[in-house]
Amino acid sequence: MFTLARRMIRSLNMQETGRRSATRMRATVASGTEAVASPAQPAPQHLLSLLATVAHELRGPLTALATSSELLAEDFVRLDPSQIKDMLGAMHRRTLWLQGLVENLLCAATIREGRLQLFCQSLGLADLLDDVKAVVGPILAQRGQRLRVRMSSELPEVLADSRRLGQVLINMILNASKFGALNTSIDVGVSARDGSVRVVVADRGPGVSMQQAEQLFEPYFRSTAATGREGVGLGLSIVKSIVEAHGGAVGVENRRGGGARFWFSIPTVRRTASAKSHLSLVS
Ligand SMILES: Nc1ncnc2c1ncn2[C@@H]1O[C@H](COP(=O)(O)OP(=O)(O)OP(=O)(O)O)[C@@H](O)[C@H]1O
Ligand SMILES: [Mg+2]
Repeated sequence: MFTLARRMIRSLNMQETGRRSATRMRATVASGTEAVASPAQPAPQHLLSLLATVAHELRGPLTALATSSELLAEDFVRLDPSQIKDMLGAMHRRTLWLQGLVENLLCAATIREGRLQLFCQSLGLADLLDDVKAVVGPILAQRGQRLRVRMSSELPEVLADSRRLGQVLINMILNASKFGALNTSIDVGVSARDGSVRVVVADRGPGVSMQQAEQLFEPYFRSTAATGREGVGLGLSIVKSIVEAHGGAVGVENRRGGGARFWFSIPTVRRTASAKSHLSLVS
């Protein structure tokens, strides 16, 4: 798993480099897609309460990391290899979780300022999902959950920012893990239809109230299902902003047999015959 995570980090670095030469698409609120919703400025007391929530979210994993690393440093020779492996695994999971939180906070700030920038290139969902699995795998394993991916054969590519689309998938899958029951599968389905690729993430959790379906995608909104569970209420609003900036759509429905099905779709890529390197969106 460590190898996979390293691969994800390497791949993110490569994407960073590739991005410089990739098709650039600046997506701002002013650019025309109503897609990049600019959330309302919170009043100062909301800001303070958000800061308190974020500090609270950071404190738990940071305390655990400090304790584990101290224990490892002091008792390393007395611990057996399996204990060391377990402790490092737990530290790794917490680090991934913290990275996700920081990434979401930075992205939320960028969206709020209307500065969400996409570095798009032609992308296969299968490769992206491989990278995402490396990040979510350790967190799912902790809850005894596993990711089942079903993909249509011959999926067309999408024109997308791989880092941002990875963030969309990570947010949706980690929600499915957090709200899904222990020891269940999280089912990811990828299919193509009507010029779009559609990704569905389905869990076996409490499902959602359809009256709140739109609110779930608003910044800081959390339903009663979130009571006692970690989180700030930012993940789905970021999912919506990123997907809509790609010209796509998001939604949620309840799943037969219990659980939620969150989905997003984004347009596929068409390579024109005359200029193979030119990418265009087909809506
Ligand atoms: N798979 C799901 N099943 C049931 N409810 C969900 C699910 N995913 C999201 N929700 C509801 O939507 C709310 C908003 O989700 P969102 O991802 O934005 O925030 P969060 O997960 O609570 O916090 P954060 O993503 O910032 O860590 C959640 O608090 C929860 O009420
Ligand atoms: Mg979330």
